[in-house]
Amino acid sequence: MERKRVVLVTGSGSGMGRESVRLLAQKGFKVYAATRSPEKLTGAFEGDVTPLYMDITDPKSVEEAFCAVERLDILVNNAGYGLVSTVEELDEKQMFDQFNVNVFGLLRVTKHSIALMRRERSGVIINISSFLGKIGLPLLTMYNATKYAVEGITDSLRYELADFNIRVHSVMPGFFDTEFARGNLVTNAETFSEESPYACMVSNLAPKIVEQINRGNDAEDVAELIYTIIEDENFPARVTVGDKASKFIPMRKELSDEDFERRVREYYDL
Ligand SMILES: NC(=O)c1ccc[n+]([C@@H]2O[C@H](COP(=O)([O-])OP(=O)(O)OC[C@H]3O[C@@H](n4cnc5c(N)ncnc54)[C@H](OP(=O)(O)O)[C@@H]3O)[C@@H](O)[C@H]2O)c1
Repeated sequence: MERKRVVLVTGSGSGMGRESVRLLAQKGFKVYAATRSPEKLTGAFEGDVTPLYMDITDPKSVEEAFCAVERLDILVNNAGYGLVSTVEELDEKQMFDQFNVNVFGLLRVTKHSIALMRRERSGVIINISSFLGKIGLPLLTMYNATKYAVEGITDSLRYELADFNIRVHSVMPGFFDTEFARGNLVTNAETFSEESPYACMVSNLAPKIVEQINRGNDAEDVAELIYTIIEDENFPARVTVGDKASKFIPMRKELSDEDFERRVREYYDL
């Protein structure tokens, strides 16, 4: 009998992570659902799902979680959130925390996963990035910076791990209706105060972005795409998913920097 393939998904508590756990368990994988709140996931899925406590900002927590994982075929680096702040008003802790989750946390989990995959001489690492990993927007500079970093990590690791038959991919979602804007966006108080020199930009842009996220695509589409990437050995390095990503990413490639910027300014009235 063929052995079950083993997958670990970070940020399994909601949104894309949760849908990926659900779908991959349905497809017959053994799934480690890594989350800060495993108690909320007990009994939440059908199939072979083990909720696993993991705080990706804490190296010790990641190391302890991996003690329970004997083998790993696929890693989905999904945990992440967005900080909304101007650069001038950045708070030191908020700035560090944004990288600590979206980049350093991703690297901590990846590091442990590589060791397990290398032993098997095979593996798939899927990084959930964003279309904002290729496109900048005001108020989202820190989030942009983390997702641009994730794109760089994907590109470098593809070379580093190729000899061990470990594939690395990046998924760039557009806006998706998850807990992202409802519960997990972090806003800088100064930026959102009426006294901020950026108040006009904030009142124009922030509600638009939040509305676009809440009217965004369905997280199931990301889960389906993750399953496709796992099954297709020849899948390209990166892929977009969702309306906004499929609109803006090709435009970004086709237009000059200046023309693209003009289009974004028009679109968001910047
Ligand atoms: N929604 C969008 O429009 C959108 C667009 C492009 C890219 N993305 C990316 O897609 C990924 C999944 O997001 P989602 O839309 O599914 O949002 P979500 O419903 O908010 O889920 C994100 C998960 O990440 C984990 N997380 C959030 N804040 C964290 C923190 N401070 N420390 C550690 N873990 C934290 C949480 O997992 P636990 O609570 O289970 O630990 C949470 O369930 C993220 O990397 C996000 O940047 C989202």
